[in-house]
Amino acid sequence: MSETVHPVPDDFNARIGPAELDALLKAEESDPHGHWMEQAKRLQWTKFPEQSGDWSFDEDDFRINWFADGKLNLSVNCLDRHLEKHGDRTAIIFEADEPGHGHRYTYRELYEETCRFANLLKQRGVHRGNRVMIYMPMIPEAAAAMLACARIGAIHSVIFGGFSPESVAGRIADCDACAVITADEGVRGGKHIPLKRNVDAALEHRDVQSVIVVTRTGADVPMKDGRDVSYSAVRDQLSTECEAEAMDAEDPLFILYTSGSTGKPKGVVHTTGGYAVWAAATFDWVFDYRDDDVFWCTADVGWITGHTYVVYGPLMNGATSVMFDGVPNFPDFGRFWETVDRLGVTIFYTAPTAIRALMREGDEPVKRYSRKSIRLLGTVGEPINPEAWEWYWRVVGDGRCPVVDTWWQTETGGILISPFPGATPMKPGSATKPLPGVKPLLVDSEGKELHGATSGNLCISASWPGQMRTVWGDHRRFFETYFSTYRGLYFTGDGCRRDEDGYYWITGRVDDVINVSGHRIGTAEVESALVAHPLVAEAAVVAFPHDIKGQAIHAYVTLNAGEEGGEDLRRELNQQVRKEIGALASPERIQFAPTLPKTRSGKIMRRILRKIAEGETAGFGDTSTLADPTVVDQLLAGAREFQ
Ligand code: WTA
Repeated sequence: MSETVHPVPDDFNARIGPAELDALLKAEESDPHGHWMEQAKRLQWTKFPEQSGDWSFDEDDFRINWFADGKLNLSVNCLDRHLEKHGDRTAIIFEADEPGHGHRYTYRELYEETCRFANLLKQRGVHRGNRVMIYMPMIPEAAAAMLACARIGAIHSVIFGGFSPESVAGRIADCDACAVITADEGVRGGKHIPLKRNVDAALEHRDVQSVIVVTRTGADVPMKDGRDVSYSAVRDQLSTECEAEAMDAEDPLFILYTSGSTGKPKGVVHTTGGYAVWAAATFDWVFDYRDDDVFWCTADVGWITGHTYVVYGPLMNGATSVMFDGVPNFPDFGRFWETVDRLGVTIFYTAPTAIRALMREGDEPVKRYSRKSIRLLGTVGEPINPEAWEWYWRVVGDGRCPVVDTWWQTETGGILISPFPGATPMKPGSATKPLPGVKPLLVDSEGKELHGATSGNLCISASWPGQMRTVWGDHRRFFETYFSTYRGLYFTGDGCRRDEDGYYWITGRVDDVINVSGHRIGTAEVESALVAHPLVAEAAVVAFPHDIKGQAIHAYVTLNAGEEGGEDLRRELNQQVRKEIGALASPERIQFAPTLPKTRSGKIMRRILRKIAEGETAGFGDTSTLADPTVVDQLLAGAREFQ
């Protein structure tokens, strides 16, 4: 690993320099309560809290509360409070798939759009505490829909548009949603995505009372009487004022489904007050936000990054946030930089997978544009390899913009480990140091804390306001998944190295979660999709390193006796995964295997499958516990076609 150190660029005039950061860290250490109350002042509260954190990770006394006696509304914090001073400031710049197509919403316009949506939801009988699914493209109406739910106290659950109808149906059932907000179609890279049709297919499994359909392309889509309503048809009759509910700080704000190592995706629940404080503070700290910034986070609102750093974080800070509905290579590989120049983007935040894909195309598509407006670059979603970091820094940033490598998770609500761009010297490949109030800890497999420069499993020992509060409908699963592996600690599922300078280097998941292009996929989900095929007897899924995607999926599939695998069946199996989960989970490789390596007690030895997928041909460790040791040679022979 590279140990190059890049100092903070001399002329990067951050609001928070080394002295200010030092003061912030000291304030948190000497008086945590005072520090958190200070952070709470970032928001406008209906009732300002007196309590800060009240939590325990111990089983007997397990609880997580932040600012619990406070009351507030998040749409008020994102919209109303800016109207008087900055009503005409641009809140959202919508950049469509087609370059230059799109429009700007001022804070006042977004406020009015949000109120219209909120009123429509109310008309349809949606009220405080109800769940609303949002399955939309990256259009401003998606943000308005989220904010409208927040305004009336409904709990939103956004589903990425790449998930299949089956996945949508599963999530609607899990949280018992009463309404879906969608669009007629999405458009990505020139291709149309039949969102409304997918919703209809999902609702065949599980119907809801209302479907609100926003017009994106104007495609002719079927509308079910009494259930479906076209937003554009009723929009002009809806009032642009809607009173906001005063929510308790611990009322749920949203559910976001994410994959874990076992079972179906979990509904990660974030509540109102703590999440809001964390989103507002981290946006300000990590991106050194200033009034004239144009902030572009390329994530989709279907993921946590889109929630916190496209919508809530920027809007609470009164920022201008770009919502991009396209892809990095359409119409060509210069798209990001052409858009940066045209919109005057000052802060650019994307995923390592996108950086690696662009790097492969060479410097020319970048150099074609000036990029002089950019002052800060960021990455998120997966470990960034030092080569990609250096390229981002040198070619995209011309060696003058700090790069913030931000580590966090759906569960953490916002960034936990990241440089302060004006204060933290950078090491390519390291997310550097924890933010104020974040207490990381490395433990060995027995849970013993490891000190100094070392590697281990990354845990967090103290709660922070943005921490998830529960798994929807299954509080026991919440405790079991995150707090039972190592007593008294939140376990992240990531492996990590800490160096002599106290810098953290995330090495990736140590559980059965695969990170494909920054998207979390549970091996168990893919396996269960594969075995749902009538010819499949058994399946085991592992990750292997991929140049662009970071990781990709290698599936070992055992067929029923007498069946033979071939290209046609591979296509069918891929189709099956797309149908059950979505294209993002489809395996890069499918290897038909006569049997899987199992211990005598029947446990699949994934360690061996992983090594074979990684291209190793020897050094499988102790294989004496295998029921049939010859299986390794058979698997190696079968894997040859992929090397
Ligand atoms: C990985 C995305 C290394 C990590 C915000 C984590 C990272 C998982 C980084 C969460 C980073 C995220 N460096 N790894 N900067 N950021 N990860 O829930 O494995 O989609 O556990 O949240 O992504 O993915 P999630």
